[in-house]
Amino acid sequence: MHILILYSSRFGQTLKIAQALKHQWLDAGAQVTLANLEHTADLHVGDFDKVVIGASIRYGHFAKCLAEFTSAQAPVLNRLPSAFFSVSILANKAHKSTPETHTYTRKFIEQSAWQPKHIGIFAGELAYHKYHLVDRYLMKLVMKINKGETNTHAHIEFTDWNKVQQFGAEVLSM
Ligand SMILES: Cc1cc2nc3c(=O)[nH]c(=O)nc-3n(C[C@H](O)[C@H](O)[C@H](O)COP(=O)(O)O)c2cc1C
Repeated sequence: MHILILYSSRFGQTLKIAQALKHQWLDAGAQVTLANLEHTADLHVGDFDKVVIGASIRYGHFAKCLAEFTSAQAPVLNRLPSAFFSVSILANKAHKSTPETHTYTRKFIEQSAWQPKHIGIFAGELAYHKYHLVDRYLMKLVMKINKGETNTHAHIEFTDWNKVQQFGAEVLSM
């Protein structure tokens, strides 16, 4: 079984999750190709047995390449077993941690011609030191509004790795 996993990541957390899934699937005996969703020109999605796409949220939106790729490839993606996962800070809140309650993901799926079989909602990381001045200031504001961590020395990984592993197992069995 050959799994293609594509990621869209600005600060590395979605890539880190994609790499953890890759290792889980390699350990289970699958062949895995990991690639950046921004660089898919040479990829033939139809050559794979399963496809998984992961993308992070920035100011309420996924990167443009997600909608571009999934709308262009929808016919082949819908033919294959496929899964999607989103990564965001908001998913750290229990009431925003399912495909139905995570608004960014729900809206993307509602508007998407691609309908993945499984959807994972993962919390990302808060790493002020990685952000430029404006991003740091705006993230601090976002965290303040959401009653979260506003100390700009903070570096918190909210990702629930058991949830990631559970998603990885669902992908193997789909
Ligand atoms: C500039 C910036 C804007 C963000 N905007 C949002 C947002 O609107 N909603 C949210 O839930 N998380 C938001 N986040 C949190 C990211 O989704 C989170 O840090 C995630 O781990 C980033 O994943 P990546 O490193 O793969 O890009 C934002 C983060 C940054 C740095």
